[in-house]
Amino acid sequence: MLMNDLASSRFDDTAKEEVRTRIDIADVVGRYVALKPAGQNLKGLCPFHKEKTPSFTVNPSRGFFHCFGCGKGGDVFTFVSEMEGVGFPEALSMLAEETGVALKKATSDPHASAPDSSGPRISKTDLLRIHQIAARFFYDSMRRSQEAIAYLKTRGLRPEIVREFLVGYAPEGWSGLIDYAGDLSVSDDLLVACGLALRKTETSRPYDRFRERIIFPIFDLSGRPIAFGGRGMHKDAQPKYLNSPETALYRKSKTLYGLHATRTDIKETGEVLVVEGYMDFLALYQEGIRNVVATCGTALTADHAQILGRFAPRITLVFDGDTAGQTAAHRASEVLAPFPLDVRVLILPEGEDPDTFVRSKGTQEFRKLVA
Ligand code: UTP
Ligand code: MN
Repeated sequence: MLMNDLASSRFDDTAKEEVRTRIDIADVVGRYVALKPAGQNLKGLCPFHKEKTPSFTVNPSRGFFHCFGCGKGGDVFTFVSEMEGVGFPEALSMLAEETGVALKKATSDPHASAPDSSGPRISKTDLLRIHQIAARFFYDSMRRSQEAIAYLKTRGLRPEIVREFLVGYAPEGWSGLIDYAGDLSVSDDLLVACGLALRKTETSRPYDRFRERIIFPIFDLSGRPIAFGGRGMHKDAQPKYLNSPETALYRKSKTLYGLHATRTDIKETGEVLVVEGYMDFLALYQEGIRNVVATCGTALTADHAQILGRFAPRITLVFDGDTAGQTAAHRASEVLAPFPLDVRVLILPEGEDPDTFVRSKGTQEFRKLVA
């Protein structure tokens, strides 16, 4: 037993050190913080506390970061676990996937392989690559579809916002993405494992999950697409929004739409507005209200609260002015109660959601309501 323990801890240390030599801490930190050279080191604004002049340094040769302002410091594993709000084993497993270092089972994240055990095992690297390919396909298809462009226009989304959030379009037909990805040597099995294709039960022939829908890619904190939400273009589309299933990359309960783009504003203002819809997020963002995130087709969870707490002490939940909105508001305040957060709830006038409100009444009126 003792021998086993020793052996396994030695194995972990080996993997950990292997990851450490393969990865550049400046690369990893650079995904979250804009770094500038400063002598032997790199400097930037500390992601762990609010500051105007950089006191956060990274020493690439020693593999450490340190903030002279708040005192936080450590190695690449500390950094990832702090930024992503995960424990050491998951940080190790994320970086191991990325660098192609094999981990012993016991130390890897239990969610590290696709939940569907009938499918092939798929690495996070493959998942990320395929989501990127799919996002490009949807965005290109949008640009080629007059109907999609017209739809986005009627929804009031300006082209620069559409581009920034890679809002796309899944065309009609059954194999647009399958054919496009196939040309890039992505197998049907991999698309199925990503939830981008489904198989007919009788023939097991694959077909595209998303068809004739406006596509909202959902991003991780580094701005990489990890899932998709698809809104039916036609009034009678069922369901109105169709979402990617959960994968090793995507957990609804831990994902907040838009946070990669608004995290700095949230930190700076010390407050985050939580809305319910992708369109609500985009409308507010477009109108200059940028300390906002949206949940992804799920009620607010304790994990969401924990993540948001790392960025701001105050949370304002913004709900639609209908009975569903009021019920959701009550439930969310209960979820948030155990957290040391200043929680406020804003219920919009009846019949309005943040999107319709900010469009018809303007930013000033919206800010007034929040205040
Ligand atoms: P809403 O029904 O309030 O839609 O759903 P919306 O955001 O106002 O969208 P538009 O303006 O009609 O286009 C709020 C959110 O709930 C999730 C989606 O994330 C949506 O943005 N939802 C809604 C689903 O996941 N599935 C659904 O069928 C409906
Ligand atoms: Mn709406």
